[in-house]
Amino acid sequence: MAFISGASRGIGLALVERLLVTTASSVVASGRSVAASAELQALKAAHGERLTVLPMDVGDEESVAAAVGALPAGLEKLELVAHCAAMMHPSGRGETSIARMGPDKKGGAAMAATLAVNVVGPSVLTAALWPRLRRKKSELDAGLRPGAVVAVGAGVGSISTNKAGGWYSYRVSKTALQVRTMLVLLLMPLLLVLLRLLLRLLVLTPLPQALMMNLSIEGARAGVVAYTLYT
Ligand SMILES: NC(=O)c1ccc[n+]([C@@H]2O[C@H](COP(=O)([O-])OP(=O)(O)OC[C@H]3O[C@@H](n4cnc5c(N)ncnc54)[C@H](OP(=O)(O)O)[C@@H]3O)[C@@H](O)[C@H]2O)c1
Repeated sequence: MAFISGASRGIGLALVERLLVTTASSVVASGRSVAASAELQALKAAHGERLTVLPMDVGDEESVAAAVGALPAGLEKLELVAHCAAMMHPSGRGETSIARMGPDKKGGAAMAATLAVNVVGPSVLTAALWPRLRRKKSELDAGLRPGAVVAVGAGVGSISTNKAGGWYSYRVSKTALQVRTMLVLLLMPLLLVLLRLLLRLLVLTPLPQALMMNLSIEGARAGVVAYTLYT
């Protein structure tokens, strides 16, 4: 099963369509306005029970809990969670001047709202789905694939390559999303190797070394891999 957050349109919708056409997986498509998405409804008509359309505001913890609670019965394993949901700014327009960050413009509240959807939301959702993502060693031994978490980043969130200012809330959120993915789940190869050598604490899975390089401490224990994709 694949869970796509932010699937009512755009990249998330395209991913849902692609998964339905090119795989045999069941797919969950979530977002605030999924019920009103004509494209999703057409996919639902074409693919029936393979597609679950699930209203969810990823910036609202109660909504996330309700959506995860409404997943199809049974603890079907998740092969993929893709975080595509994001917003530019509550106004719909990224900041092009520092003046828009001021209290008279409610700039702080706008930034907090953007971070809530773009960074906090994916963290909360990943945690809520963790029981379906994680794998026991016996399951990995039996050939079950690791659960994968993909967060859609943005080149404008890059610290090193950006030369222009502006879009503060969105860009900070995308930088933070990348760091969050790294810290929670991703790529600690040196630490991982050191811990394996020195502490012998980690559950060593039969996965090849190349894959292990993409596993974090927690991810290694749980058999989960995580990536940030850049567009
Ligand atoms: N398009 C680009 O060129 C580009 C470039 C760099 C990065 N990206 C990234 O790619 C991802 C998808 O972008 P896109 O271009 O496809 O954007 P989009 O067309 O605006 O779609 C955004 C999706 O996020 C959902 N969403 C927004 N707020 C939400 C919330 N509070 N709760 C749940 N879902 C929410 C929207 O659904 P609802 O409105 O129904 O909730 C919609 O399905 C984003 O992470 C974006 O930052 C895109």
